[in-house]
Amino acid sequence: MNTNYLDNLKILYSRQEIEVAVARLAAEITREYQARNPLILGVLKGSFVFMSDLVRRLDFSLETDFVQLSSYSRGTSSAGKIKMVQDIKATVKGRDVLVVEDIVDTGKSLAFLADYLQKKNPESLRFCCLLDKPSRRQVPVTVHYRGFTVPDKFVVGYGMDYAEQYRNLPDIYILSDDKK
Ligand code: IMP
Ligand code: MG
Repeated sequence: MNTNYLDNLKILYSRQEIEVAVARLAAEITREYQARNPLILGVLKGSFVFMSDLVRRLDFSLETDFVQLSSYSRGTSSAGKIKMVQDIKATVKGRDVLVVEDIVDTGKSLAFLADYLQKKNPESLRFCCLLDKPSRRQVPVTVHYRGFTVPDKFVVGYGMDYAEQYRNLPDIYILSDDKK
């Protein structure tokens, strides 16, 4: 029996395709934010790889911070209820805040975060997501910067996990159903 940990993964986006998408997003973000010293806020854990590639392409003054939310306890089905596991440390009031997310699925995490951050009176608030799964949306959210629109499949790699596995993969894969 072959027990390679990459069994049952099918490539969706190669590292080269991801790089092109990240460069495009960075160019769009640069146009809007280069004179605004924005706060780039990564949502842990899933965004850590995307965030690090993205901010290294933003060649202007900015601040970074992270929040951690929990929604998926384990596995692929949403628990539905969002909790703040690690709170923001930077000042939000009066800042241009750009939230960086790995993937928008039901929209519950971003809706929660939008509500939470708006109460802190940012100058502006926008969302940048590498992947968007609009067919799964339960709560409407506006995604201002989007890498790819993906089908209703569970994806892993490039920071995204299944039960905390696969975050280290440089490419993005579809996890086949019999693995879930
Ligand atoms: P939402 O609150 O349902 O939009 O879920 C958002 C979070 O669930 C994302 O930030 C991911 O961390 C996780 N998630 C949703 N879909 C996937 C997926 O296909 N693979 C890995 N994580 C996912
Ligand atoms: Mg996430």
